[in-house]
Amino acid sequence: MGDHHHQEGKELGNTVLAVCGKGGVGKTTVSALLARLFSRRGDTRVLLVDADPAVGLGMAMSIFPERTVNDIRKEIVSTVREHATDSLDLAASVDYKLMEAVSQNGRLGFLSVGRPEDEGCYCQLNTLLREAIETLSGHFDLTLIDAEAGVEQVNRRVMRSVSHLMLVCDPTPKSLNVAETIRKVAEEAVNYRRLGLLINRARDEREARSLASRSELPLLGWVPEDDAVRSFDSSARSFLELPDCEALQAVEAAVLGSGFLEI
Ligand SMILES: Nc1ncnc2c1ncn2[C@@H]1O[C@H](COP(=O)(O)OP(=O)(O)OP(=O)(O)O)[C@@H](O)[C@H]1O
Ligand SMILES: [Mg+2]
Repeated sequence: MGDHHHQEGKELGNTVLAVCGKGGVGKTTVSALLARLFSRRGDTRVLLVDADPAVGLGMAMSIFPERTVNDIRKEIVSTVREHATDSLDLAASVDYKLMEAVSQNGRLGFLSVGRPEDEGCYCQLNTLLREAIETLSGHFDLTLIDAEAGVEQVNRRVMRSVSHLMLVCDPTPKSLNVAETIRKVAEEAVNYRRLGLLINRARDEREARSLASRSELPLLGWVPEDDAVRSFDSSARSFLELPDCEALQAVEAAVLGSGFLEI
């Protein structure tokens, strides 16, 4: 395993980037832009995790997985009900099932959390999602997570192993407040190494800087309103095919130009 590829992978190893923020600020868009960016970078193996039960990222990438983390949850629940399975056997088979639920598209892996039918299942699902992130990220150079809106998944420690926490907001104080709340909760609940703010849909640098100056959060960058993004979204085309555009360049500058990701 000491070959060159493995060494390269190691530098990025355990880079787990989560995109968090208030509802509607552009988390899925930013995740899709990041996926598009890294899907074309050398031999980087990328795992995309759609952690939002509303399933936005799969749509943006035109990836429709056959099995979700919620399907696995249901299987485990019924296995435990039917047989008194040995818990060690069960743990090993859970990791295997999670691996199997990753759909592979070239060097890009994709895992979707899915949507439980019943509110009471969210706790189990979040626990299994945490397990999925922790075991699967070891097999990829970079894991990108499109989180559910708000603070809940951070609070429930689903994002415990996230190394890079990206807080997205739009040019509204309300969404900046949500980003700050997530940061507060993350101090206890996430083992992150780096954290930064990305302002989406800013009109210009001035607007972005003026909003960022209301906060202690370190500014990674800002993303303009982009027609390419809008048209890909409205025609449901995969962001993997998105041509070079302003939003893509802005996201690249925010994560690579700023030194946020040490690649
Ligand atoms: N920079 C941008 N330029 C143009 N359109 C954008 C941009 N960012 C987001 N949008 C559009 O805004 C809408 C909301 O964005 P998105 O779905 O990414 O937000 P979200 O934070 O993931 O929302 P939710 O909390 O519901 O998951 C989408 O229609 C998206 O195409
Ligand atoms: Mg979304």
